[in-house]
Amino acid sequence: MWCVLAHFVLAQNKTLCSFRNLSCCVLNISTMSSIKSLRGLVGLVTGGGSGLGKATAQRLVKQGARVVVLDLPNSSGDDTAKELGDDCKFAAGDVTSESEVSAAIATARNSFGRLDLAVNCAGVGIAVKTYNFNKNRAHPLAEFQRVLTVNTVGSFNVIRQSAGEIGKNDPGPDGERGVIINTASVAAFDGQIGQAAYSASKGAIVGMTLPIARDLASQGIRVCTIAPGLFDTPLLAALPEKVRTFLARMIPFPSRLGHPDEFAHMVQFIVENPMINAEVIRLDGAIRMQP
Ligand SMILES: NC(=O)c1ccc[n+]([C@@H]2O[C@H](COP(=O)([O-])OP(=O)(O)OC[C@H]3O[C@@H](n4cnc5c(N)ncnc54)[C@H](O)[C@@H]3O)[C@@H](O)[C@H]2O)c1
Repeated sequence: MWCVLAHFVLAQNKTLCSFRNLSCCVLNISTMSSIKSLRGLVGLVTGGGSGLGKATAQRLVKQGARVVVLDLPNSSGDDTAKELGDDCKFAAGDVTSESEVSAAIATARNSFGRLDLAVNCAGVGIAVKTYNFNKNRAHPLAEFQRVLTVNTVGSFNVIRQSAGEIGKNDPGPDGERGVIINTASVAAFDGQIGQAAYSASKGAIVGMTLPIARDLASQGIRVCTIAPGLFDTPLLAALPEKVRTFLARMIPFPSRLGHPDEFAHMVQFIVENPMINAEVIRLDGAIRMQP
């Protein structure tokens, strides 16, 4: 492979380039300028009032982007926006609502002029067994539907509407118009007891990543999904220290809960690297959840 590439480069450039210098030639023709920064981008972050979404909004703004945080009216989304100042607006809404997601996108357009990035972090979880034989009770269907509606349908609602707005952008040097990033979970792969609904909702996000990336490729919109392991968000912060330590020890390396900013850093990496597309990335310190 390297030999074929070397001959091609040499023939094209008619350059006597030694094999040692080949990597330089390759780098030159691959236009590293298409690696972009977050500066000047406009992002929509759902669930930005807490945890992974909040850390994402914070990192995006710190790196020079402007952000609309979409979160429930009674969430801390407004606090996130106030903390981040003029570069962040709060749009109160539910990801499952067509009109409220549309309004959040309009906030991005009206306040910041465009939309380049959508990050789906809003999500809910429950722990209910498929059938509780002690209580002779089946998993409430409404609870199963609620988790799928928020996590899967809500994410798709944001994706489909953001795609329309991002698609209006002028294409960049690579033809790229923007990026959409979803949040699944390692539960999409190693669902535990009681996680039928949550795993199904996250598995669906994993499953739709490739077809949506294919759907949006012609418009220069990339789509990726992050599958986090155990992260130190308010959800886990509420647990007793003993349980947190136990969970942390289950992670091979590093044996600690992930910092929300490490998730946000993965968001940044996906945005910056134009070659990553349709990928689901586990961010989990090698944990494989036990039953
Ligand atoms: N924390 C973890 O260890 C972990 C691991 C794997 C996956 N995840 C996933 O990451 C995402 C973020 O998790 P987190 O730990 O930051 O949770 P979190 O509870 O701290 O934050 C979730 C945010 O989503 C918002 N939200 C919930 N339902 C909404 C709706 N219908 N519309 C709009 N906003 C809504 C909440 O108000 C909240 O601000 C979730 O999808 C979760 O499933 C988290």
